[in-house]
Parts: sequence; structure tokens; C-alpha cells
Amino acid sequence: MIAIEPEPHAPAKSEGKALLIEGLSVGFGGLLALDQVSLTAFQRETVGVIGPNGAGKTTLFNIICGFVGADSGQVSYGGISLLERHHPHDLTKLGIARTLQGVGLFAGLTLLENVMAGAQAGLRSDIASAFLGLWRSSREERRLALRARELLDELGVGAYARYLPAALPFAVQKSAALARALIAEPSLLLLDEPASGLSNDEMDELATMIRGLRSRMGILLVEHHMDLVMSVCDRIVVLDFGRVIADGTPESVRSNPEVATAYLGDEIDKSSGHSQAFDDA
Ligand SMILES: Nc1ncnc2c1ncn2[C@@H]1O[C@H](COP(=O)(O)OP(=O)(O)OP(=O)(O)O)[C@@H](O)[C@H]1O
Ligand SMILES: [Mg+2]
Repeated sequence: MIAIEPEPHAPAKSEGKALLIEGLSVGFGGLLALDQVSLTAFQRETVGVIGPNGAGKTTLFNIICGFVGADSGQVSYGGISLLERHHPHDLTKLGIARTLQGVGLFAGLTLLENVMAGAQAGLRSDIASAFLGLWRSSREERRLALRARELLDELGVGAYARYLPAALPFAVQKSAALARALIAEPSLLLLDEPASGLSNDEMDELATMIRGLRSRMGILLVEHHMDLVMSVCDRIVVLDFGRVIADGTPESVRSNPEVATAYLGDEIDKSSGHSQAFDDA
């Protein structure tokens, strides 16, 4: 029998925690939103999850986060099953953080408070206020406020720390949402359409930032903007009608005929500029 050597980068990838999804299915009424989905994301790997509107991308995130239950299959992170009744609050402890499709900041909290609230994932807005109230003048609250301010500064929006979200440009709100996900120092970060609504320049900044995070955590990136996905992802998984139709390097996905037929058409060849179909998403 021939011994097969692991590929050179395999040991580094297998270090740390991995997200393992196997045979995951979930239906809503008659609709199969995810159909036998399997994928893995290793620590320090950036995995893109793409697919047309309604393909099941957000549902996949919702299952990982415990917002939606699965009908069958396995989802684990670091060897711990995420399907066995974990509460979204437990995510922080597990090292998982996410940003929501849209922005999802608490309207009644300043940017700084929103980011601080991210230290405890899954809080409702009223509870978040009370929670921050409890911390007031404690050492922990000061430490968190300092860290929240640092993150907002790193993302270039520290000047808005004391403002309520509604008064601020969309891109600033999105940066704050990202800071809120990062304050818990996750080892796995789930980003649901972080580029939607951003200008090209803002998207470039986002790409730089995502690349900067790669050495610290695994990232699952749901995105319609192909330039961004192609430029930051190590691997891309393509969903179509809840099924994985491709899983490979950006190059292999770009040249995969099934992907082209099912979803991307000639859009994917336009590596500069954004496809109208994606921008409308
Ligand atoms: N809670 C729910 N109840 C019923 N149907 C749902 C629910 N959540 C999602 N769906 C349906 O499941 C399918 C997958 O939706 P999902 O939001 O995961 O798609 P998506 O890939 O994130 O799409 P988009 O790119 O538009 O964000 C869609 O047909 C959607 O209407
Ligand atoms: Mg979605």
C-alpha cells in the first residue's frame, strides 16, 4: 500500500478548531432550504459561501448560530456539536461570532455600546441596555469600552463612537457591526454580506481588513460581490437551491461549468466591476 503524504499546508490548517458540516438538511414547509450540505472551514481559512438569492446561505449561518434547527446532518465546531440545543448566547464561549445580513445594530445604543454588547452574543436590545447598565463604572466595563474604542478606531470609525447608529452613514454602521463581532475575539467569524451597500473604495478597505483577520481566525464569508470573494477567499463553496454544487479554490470555481450554468453565467468572468445581478441582491 502506498503511503500518501499530507499536502504541505495540511498540518497548519488542521491546527486549532475546525467547523465541520456534514449532510445538513433543513426544510421550511415544502421548501428544502438546505439539502445534504457538507463543508469544512479550518482555522485561519477564509471560505466563501456563494449562491443566488434564496440558495440557503443565511439559513446555513442561522443553523450554525442556533437560530434555526436542522432536520438532519451534523454541525460541529472544535468537536462540539452545534445542533444539540446550544443557545445563541453560547456562541461567544465557543469562539463563534457573526455579522447579520443588513446591519442589525441596536438603535437605542451608541456605536460604542453596540460594540461592547457584542461581548455577549445573542442579547436582545432591552437586555443589552440593562447589561451595560450593570457594568457601569465597573472595571470590566472600562476594559470593554477601551477595547470597543480600539476596534472602532482600527476600522476607521472611532470618531463616531458616541453616536446612535441611525444618524450615521451605512458604511460606518457596517464597520461597527464588524467591530461588534470582533470584540469577543472569535476564532470563527461568520460574515453575511459585509460588502452590501458599500462603495468600491469601502469594499477595498473591507478586503484589506478581512485579509488582516485571516491569521487570527477562520472566516465564513457570504457575499454576492465576486471581486471581493475571489480576492480574499482560500476556498469557495457554491450553493444552489440548497445544494452544494461546487467546493474548491477561487480558480476552480471560476472555471466550473456547472457553477457557470447554474448561477454565475458570464458574471464570474468579469473579475473587474460588479455584476448587476449581484449588486441588485
Ligand atoms: N424562517 C424561514 N421560514 C420559511 N422559509 C424560510 C425561512 N428562512 C429562509 N427561508 C427560505 O429558505 C430559502 C433560503 O433562504 P436564505 O435566506 O437562506 O437564502 P440566501 O442564500 O441567504 O439568500 P440571499 O442571497 O437573498 O440572502 C429561501 O427560499 C427562503 O425564502
Ligand atoms: Mg442571505
